[in-house]
Amino acid sequence: VSPQEVLAGAGSDELITLLLTALSRPRDRTDAAVVLTTTPTFVMYRLAARARGMRVLEVPLDANWDLSLDSMRRGAELAPPNLVFIASPNNPTGNLMARDRLEALITSLPESLVVIDEAYIDYAPGNQLELYQRFENVAILRTLSKIGFASLRVGWLIARAPLVAEIDKLRPPYNLCSLSQRLGALVTSELAGELAALCELVKSERTRVTAELEKLPGFRVTPSQANFLWLRTPGPAGELFAALAARGVLVRSFHQRGGRLAEQLRVTIGAPTENERLLDCLRELT
Ligand SMILES: Cc1ncc(COP(=O)(O)O)c(C=O)c1O
Repeated sequence: VSPQEVLAGAGSDELITLLLTALSRPRDRTDAAVVLTTTPTFVMYRLAARARGMRVLEVPLDANWDLSLDSMRRGAELAPPNLVFIASPNNPTGNLMARDRLEALITSLPESLVVIDEAYIDYAPGNQLELYQRFENVAILRTLSKIGFASLRVGWLIARAPLVAEIDKLRPPYNLCSLSQRLGALVTSELAGELAALCELVKSERTRVTAELEKLPGFRVTPSQANFLWLRTPGPAGELFAALAARGVLVRSFHQRGGRLAEQLRVTIGAPTENERLLDCLRELT
C-alpha cells in the first residue's frame, strides 16, 4: 500500500462520513443514493448515511451472523448501492465474514465501493487486505480505537489513490491534530510489540471466558475474532443486563431492537479480574 492510498481521519467515524459525502450523488433515475449494509452491525453507517439523505438497505445476517449473500445481491439488484459497508470482524457479533461470501459480494457489485471495516482486526487471525489488492472496488478501514487509543481519534482509510485524492478534497484541512498524529505514529511503531502482547492476552482471555460461558445452562457464544463476545442468553437479555448492571457489571444489550437481538448480549473482554467478576455474577444469576 503506497502513501497515496492512505487517508488518515479523526477515527474511522470521520472517514465513514467522508466516504458517504463523497459518494452521495444518486445514480441515474433514482432520487436518493443507496448504502447497503448488514443488520446487526455498527450503527454509524446507517446514521451517517441517513443524515446525508441517503437510502439505507440493511440486510439481516444469517442464522450464524454471517453474510446472507443471496439477500444482499437481491437488495443490490433492486436498489444499486453506491457504497457497501461490511464490518469484519463485525460489531456486535464479533465474527469475521466468510471470505468466499465477501469475495462473491465484491465481484457481483463491480459498480459499488465495498468498504471492509477492520476496526477489530487486531484480534483476528488475519486481515482482508488481499481482497483490497485483488479488487478495484474494495476499500479498507482501520483504527487505533479498539486497541486502547480511542481518545486519540486516529483512523485510516486504504483505497485506490484517485479515490483517496477525491475524498481528500472534502477533508477538513486540520482534521487530525499534531498530537494525535505523533502519538498515532508512536503507537504503531515503538509500542507495536507491547500492543501485540496485550491483544494476545485479550485473545487468550476470550478463549477462556468463552469456554466458561458455554458451561452455563442455556448460554451460547458465537465464535469471536474481536475483543468482545456475542452471547445468546437463556431468557430475555434485557433482564440479565439489568441484573448485571445492578452488580456493577456493564454489558451491551440490544433488547430494544427486539426479534432475535432480544436474547443477545455483547460482552467486552476485560482484564482477567473483570472477566472473573462477570462469570461469577452470571453463575449466581443462572
Ligand atoms: C465496526 C466499527 N467501525 C468503526 C468504529 C468507529 O471507530 P473510531 O473510534 O475509529 O471512529 C467502531 C466503533 O465502535 C466500530 O465498531
